[in-house]
Amino acid sequence: PRIAVIVVAAGSGTRLGADAPKAFVGIDEHSILRHALDGVALVGDVQVVVVAPSGREGDAVTETRAAFDDRSDLVSVVVGGATRQASVAAGLVAVWPDVEIVLVHDAARALTPPDVFERVVAAIDGGAAGAIPVLPVIDTIKRVDGGEIVGVVDRAELSAAQTPQGFRRDILDAAYHDPATEFTDDAALVAEAGHPVAAVAGDPLAFKITTPADLVRAAGLVSRHPS
Ligand code: C5P
Repeated sequence: PRIAVIVVAAGSGTRLGADAPKAFVGIDEHSILRHALDGVALVGDVQVVVVAPSGREGDAVTETRAAFDDRSDLVSVVVGGATRQASVAAGLVAVWPDVEIVLVHDAARALTPPDVFERVVAAIDGGAAGAIPVLPVIDTIKRVDGGEIVGVVDRAELSAAQTPQGFRRDILDAAYHDPATEFTDDAALVAEAGHPVAAVAGDPLAFKITTPADLVRAAGLVSRHPS
């Protein structure tokens, strides 16, 4: 395939308060990871690298086989690292040589619709070095220091970043070769390396399942749109 999707699923999910790593927590009878992979499976002919927490590789293999069925040869599982950035780096190593575009996707954004993936790929096909889905910020944002409002931030200039974040493979490889700092997303790393990153329309359904309330919301959405 020309495109690889790295699904990062190695987070602990502390904020979710569950007793399993977040990706293996159930939304309905299926886990967060399974729902995320079902979404990726709709994208078409892509290589998929699942980055699993140490010790849960076998469970990740089971989930990917269930989601990809007879296309399981396109999927591999690797073990992640202590940070999201380390987990993406582990996934990158497993990307096949012929791949030209790499998408990095949070398993926690389990209900991301396929057209978000399509918009990101289209931007890169159109010449962008990288592209990420964004949504306008709904809340008024304040800069706070020591319990005091210290600055005005113009909401119109701000966007919330989602995934999948897509990049030309050579550029992402180079950015990950020797990263200077730890960032919370890949676009920051690629921008730091000097490449412009395009913004495409995100989707509210691509929200990141982080808190127990997010899990309740995801369960409601899944029960209304059975797969
Ligand atoms: O912690 P955060 O919500 O930013 O995690 C976003 C995504 O990165 C999640 O899907 C999580 O599983 C993944 N992650 C990872 N390895 C880590 C930390 C987070 O794969 N060490």
